[in-house]
Amino acid sequence: MRILERLERLYAIGGGPGANRPHPSAAEDEAHELAARWLEEAGLEVEVDPDGNLIGRADESPDVWVGSHLDSVPAGGRFDGALGVVAAIEAVERAGRGSVVAFRGEEVGCVGSRALVARGGPLPRAFLELHVEQGPVLAEAGLPLGVVTGIVGYAHGELVVEGRAGHAGTTPMDGRDDALVKAASEILRIRDVAVTVEGGVATVGRIEVEPGGVNVIPSRVRLSLDVRAPDTARLDALIEAIGFEATQRSEPVELGTGARAAVRGVVEEHGLEVVELPSGAGHDAGILAAAGVDAGMLFVRSLNGGISHSPDELSSPEDIELAVEVLTAALRCLAMSP
Ligand code: GLV
Ligand code: MN
Ligand code: MN
Repeated sequence: MRILERLERLYAIGGGPGANRPHPSAAEDEAHELAARWLEEAGLEVEVDPDGNLIGRADESPDVWVGSHLDSVPAGGRFDGALGVVAAIEAVERAGRGSVVAFRGEEVGCVGSRALVARGGPLPRAFLELHVEQGPVLAEAGLPLGVVTGIVGYAHGELVVEGRAGHAGTTPMDGRDDALVKAASEILRIRDVAVTVEGGVATVGRIEVEPGGVNVIPSRVRLSLDVRAPDTARLDALIEAIGFEATQRSEPVELGTGARAAVRGVVEEHGLEVVELPSGAGHDAGILAAAGVDAGMLFVRSLNGGISHSPDELSSPEDIELAVEVLTAALRCLAMSP
C-alpha cells in the first residue's frame, strides 16, 4: 500500500528509535523535500510559502485545503502528522480538487499554521485534517473512525527552582539547598494540582539542571510545563494553581460546522456509527478554526491502547484505507459546496 510505504520512508528520515524530525531540523527539511516530490508526481502545482509550509494545488480554487504536519516529537510514532499529509496527497489526487498542505513545526506550538494566520493568510474557506486519535476511545468503542468536535486549550511555560551549588562530596546532607530535590517535590505538586481539575492534565516533559556536573549539587532547575484543559476557566485555574506564566497559549476551540458536518455525513454514508469526540492534542486545524476557517478533523482508530508520541503508535492498514476514502469524499463534498 502506497500510503504505508510513504509513511515508512518518512519514518526512516531522522534515524531511530522512532520518528525524529523535530522543528527546525535537517530531518524536517528532508521530509518536506520528499513530500514535495510526491506532490509533483501527483501532478500538483507545488509552492513553499514564506514560513516554509508546503502546498500542492490540484486546481485554481485555493479554498479547500487538506493536510497536517511533517515534524515529529523526539522518538515519536509513524502516524502523528505524517499520516495526515500522506493521506491528503491521496485524497487531492483522487478527487482532483483542493490543495495539500504540510505545516511546519506543529509539535512546538503549531508555528507554521500560526505564522500563516499571523501574516493574514491566504486562508482557505475550509480545511480537513486526518489524524490518528492518539487515545483509546475509538478502539474501546470498536469503531475505526471518529469526528472531532473541538480541541482543548493548552499552555506552555516553565518553572524555575533555585538552590545553591556546592561540593557533592564535602557538603553534609543536612546543609544542602539542592534545587533538584526541591524540583522533585514541585513535580509531585504539579501532578496533585492537575488531578483536582476535571479534564485537566499537566506534564513536566523536560528538566534542565544547572550547572549539570555529576559531583556538583544542582543550583538551578528549569521544569518545562505543558498544561491542558477543556475550557478557558479550567485552563486559567490550572495555570494559577501551578503558579507559572504561560509563554505560549492556545484557547479551546470548536471546529467549524460545515466541515464537521461534511465529515460526519460521509462517515454515515459509509454505514458507520458516528462517534464525536474532542481532541486532547493540539492540531493545526485548531489554529485555523480559531482564525475563522471552517476546519474539520477525522480521527482514525489508534491501537496499542491509543499510545502516541511513542514508536509504539499504531493504526491498521484497513482503518487507514477507510479513513482516506472518507477524507476524499469529504473533500469532494466541500469542494462542490458553494
Ligand atoms: C501535539 O501533538 C500536541 O502537543 O498536542
Ligand atoms: Mn499531530
Ligand atoms: Mn504530536
